[in-house]
Formats: sequence, C-alpha cells, structure tokens
Amino acid sequence: MQGDSELVDKILSLKRERNAVILAHNYQLGEIQDIADFVGDSLELSQNAAKTKAEVIVFCGVHFMAETASILCPDKAVLLPDINAGCPMADMVTAERLRQRKRELPEASVVCYINSSAEVKAESDVCCTSANAVKVIESLDNEEILFVPDQYLGHYVSTKTDKKMNLWPGYCSTHVRIQPQDITRLKQEYPQAKVVIHPECRPEVIALADEVLSTGGMIRYARREDVSEMVVGTEIGIIHRLRKENPGKKFIPISEQAICPKMKLITLEKVLWSLEEMRPQVKVPEATRLRAKTAVDRMLAVV
Ligand code: 13P
Ligand code: SF4
Repeated sequence: MQGDSELVDKILSLKRERNAVILAHNYQLGEIQDIADFVGDSLELSQNAAKTKAEVIVFCGVHFMAETASILCPDKAVLLPDINAGCPMADMVTAERLRQRKRELPEASVVCYINSSAEVKAESDVCCTSANAVKVIESLDNEEILFVPDQYLGHYVSTKTDKKMNLWPGYCSTHVRIQPQDITRLKQEYPQAKVVIHPECRPEVIALADEVLSTGGMIRYARREDVSEMVVGTEIGIIHRLRKENPGKKFIPISEQAICPKMKLITLEKVLWSLEEMRPQVKVPEATRLRAKTAVDRMLAVV
C-alpha cells in the first residue's frame, strides 16, 4: 500500500507533466485541500476555472462544479476523480420539470443556483451562487423570479429583496441536519463566539446567525481581528481550512453530522488514477453548453 506522501509526490509530478491544475472545494477532505492549487467556494472555483492557463482541470468537488468548469473551458479536459460525486440537491430539479414550471409561470425570470445540472442552467436566464444570490437577483429588471432548486437559499434571498420569489422545493440533505437547538446550546457554552451560517440552512437556523455567508465568505470572515471564536454552520470539511489558516482561533462545528458524503468520495488515490488515466472526464455537449454559458456569464458579469 502506498503512503500518503508517496501518493502526493506522484500526483504532483503527474500534475506538472500533464499541465494540470487541481481545484478543490472547501468541503473536500483535508488531504485533498492540502494538494490543491486553489481551494474555494463555488463562485471562486468557477472564476478560477475561467482564467486558468492549465490544459487539464482536476476538479475535486461535485459533478455540477466540474460541469461549470467544462461550460467555461470547453477546450480543457475536466477530470472529476469520482464520477459518482453528484450533488443530491442538484438532482432535485430536471430540465423537463423546469420547462413544465416555466409554462406555468411565463412571466418569471428563471434563476438557478449553481448547484444544478448544465441542462437546468441551459433553461435558466441567470445562475447564482450562495455568495452572490441577492446581488444577482437584485440586478434583474423583472419583479418575478422562479428560483431553483434550493428553497432555503431562495427563502433567504426573499428576506433581502422585494422581488416575488417562486421557490422550487429542493434542499441540501447535509445542511438540513443543522438544528437550531444545537446553536442555542453552543451560544451558552461559547458566549463570545460569532455564529456563521450557510444560506442552505433552514430559516429557523439562519434566524440565529450573526452572519449568513458562503463558504468563501466564512473563510474571509474568520481572518478578521475581532473574530477569535466561530460557531460554524456548514459542512464540516471547512473546519480543516479554518483551523489551518487561523492557528490560535477556535472553530466549533454546529453538527458533526453535517457531512456531505458525495464531497468525501474524492480521495488521493482517485486523484492519482484520474491523472494517470485521464478519466473520468466531464464534458457538456456543445448545444447545452452554449445555452448554459449564457446563464453563467451573466452571473460572472454581475460579480
Ligand atoms: P459555497 O461553497 O459556494 O458556499 O456552496 C456550498 C455548497 O454546498 C456547494 O455544494
Ligand atoms: Fe450538494 Fe449539499 Fe453536498 Fe453542497 S453540501 S454538494 S449542496 S449535497
């Protein structure tokens, strides 16, 4: 069996040989974050994919993230080291069901969360992430919105805008595990701590937050001088980076149950195999890609 350091050496040398870049989401296993060229939230990762000069992108995240890279970089090989790493929330809306709903709401602008398939993006007017959802929706002239698939991010946006928001009933099965009573208990235990919550959480959880932030927003917030303890309401993979970047500060996950099993499918072995074999690759068919790119480009123009 190979040790981690042997695996890491092989990955790094093959990465150079293939002219590849490794992009990793903030929820990835610590050892994956540690070998990545860039770690970030969904918005930062798509901005990074859009500007990379590498010929190969190894996407350590979930399927919609690799698809977004393929939408933005059609000439690059986009590797997803485990093709089964899909986002269950993204699977809660299909292009067919979205077309049906659009017929019922012909006046609404369709805004899709980036956690959606390329086919769903192709049916949407604009895309958004948790970092820019309010800004993107406020940038639209239309007063009526159909928001897919995350009802809780959609609900959070509806508290920040006067737009009429029609919400799709999707949700993240990881973030719904974060319970308000756990926050109340932790607030008593750590009265100095700031409570930061991801907008995929339920409204009763968001109501207890000091800050509602994307994972990238949480990383930046933790660097502030006035923050020394943070109660963290999102997937626990982010704790690795928070602790690594902020020695001496305290980070308390609200729930050890908040694990995204699909994010954890990416391992060092699979990253090495994908670089060796140049598969599995994610490639969005051209007709879908062009339509989906309009929605992604519109988002990137707003932020
Ligand atoms: P961000 O990292 O963009 O905040 O999103 C969280 C998430 O659930 C990605 O699947
Ligand atoms: Fe999807 Fe939730 Fe996992 Fe993010 S944490 S990839 S939204 S299931």
